[in-house]
Amino acid sequence: MSADVGRPLTGLMADPTDLRIPGPTPVPPEVLAAMGRPMIPHRGAALKDLYREILALARTVHRTDGDVLTWPGTGSAGWEVAIVNLLSPGDPVLAAVCGDFGDRFAGYGERLGLDVRRLDVPWGEAVTPDRLRAALGANPEVRAVFLTHNETSTALTNPLRDLVAVVRDHGALAIVDAVSAAGALPLLVDEWGIDFVLSGSQKAWMCPPGLLIVAVGPRAWDAHERSRFPRAFWDLTVARQSAAEGMTPSTPPLSLLYAFHAALGMMHAEGLDAVWARHRRLGELTRRGVAALGLELYPDPAFASDTVTGFRPPEGVPARELVRAVRAEHGIELGAGQGRIVDDLVRIGHMGWVHEPELRRALGAVGAVLRASGVDGARPANGSPA
Ligand SMILES: Cc1ncc(COP(=O)(O)O)c(C=O)c1O
Repeated sequence: MSADVGRPLTGLMADPTDLRIPGPTPVPPEVLAAMGRPMIPHRGAALKDLYREILALARTVHRTDGDVLTWPGTGSAGWEVAIVNLLSPGDPVLAAVCGDFGDRFAGYGERLGLDVRRLDVPWGEAVTPDRLRAALGANPEVRAVFLTHNETSTALTNPLRDLVAVVRDHGALAIVDAVSAAGALPLLVDEWGIDFVLSGSQKAWMCPPGLLIVAVGPRAWDAHERSRFPRAFWDLTVARQSAAEGMTPSTPPLSLLYAFHAALGMMHAEGLDAVWARHRRLGELTRRGVAALGLELYPDPAFASDTVTGFRPPEGVPARELVRAVRAEHGIELGAGQGRIVDDLVRIGHMGWVHEPELRRALGAVGAVLRASGVDGARPANGSPA
């Protein structure tokens, strides 16, 4: 036996930090407690009741009468689920890219053998209906459009309802990555005519990472009938057949289902409109706080996200250095940028289980760090103490 076995795991024993990254997000005590429930037979009556209730609640949050399905997985797996179930090798698709996640989604399409056309928008700007219409006009043969509802990397929300209308006019499928939007921002799957939505448990769903959630509309099911990609684990038909019996094709991640059930119950109790309104308020509060510190938003303010705020660090301060100082001096974990914009912005997450005090603390910490480093204009945010 290695001498290391039995040694305390210092990494796991560190004090919990105040987690203000844009996911994974803090998990409420009710959800953590639910995860402590004992295991149950995964083909038994209790599981069937639990899973049926989860799917019904999740349909409500997606505002859909269509199918919602889950797999053990993450958001990235959702990209693959969409591609291999709705399309065929060589199919022309349009990927609307305005940040790192849109770029990765497009990359999955390329690696899986689609003919990916790109609508590249400068990072920090939105994909607008006009831009999308023009790109579709230049690529009339595309069968599907990949959209990112909330581009977490640039802290920007695209005007999804209007974009989906353009996609539908074109007769293509609207495939939507709603990883940092679902459960926090208005997302009316049926009313807006979205064909496929994917998200992951670790964001606004207030759960630990590890559960992929997808919503599938009727046109997506038609496309699925025609799709010729090989697939096994991620097969939508198999998942739907199991779900009809209240089950999943393989052993479900039971603790995550307990968590998701508890989190959905909390959202239901708060009321979906209230959940959306809370995120809107917290987005406004954070943007006001950032402005009060004399800092500039990274994304176009007209499209600034209500689940994550991105701001440019002051001249000469790399984002990662500011994030490090806030962690070291205040125990608060913020996000730097990612991909090629890693040092261009700092991100404060505010999705899921989050309220005003945590955000005031985070803004206060940013202000204190900047003042201590002699940066002009770093006034206390919203009058809150540093
Ligand atoms: C918009 C968006 N899409 C996709 C992903 C990838 O999700 P995951 O890391 O769960 O695979 C993320 C993760 O943060 C995201 O924010």
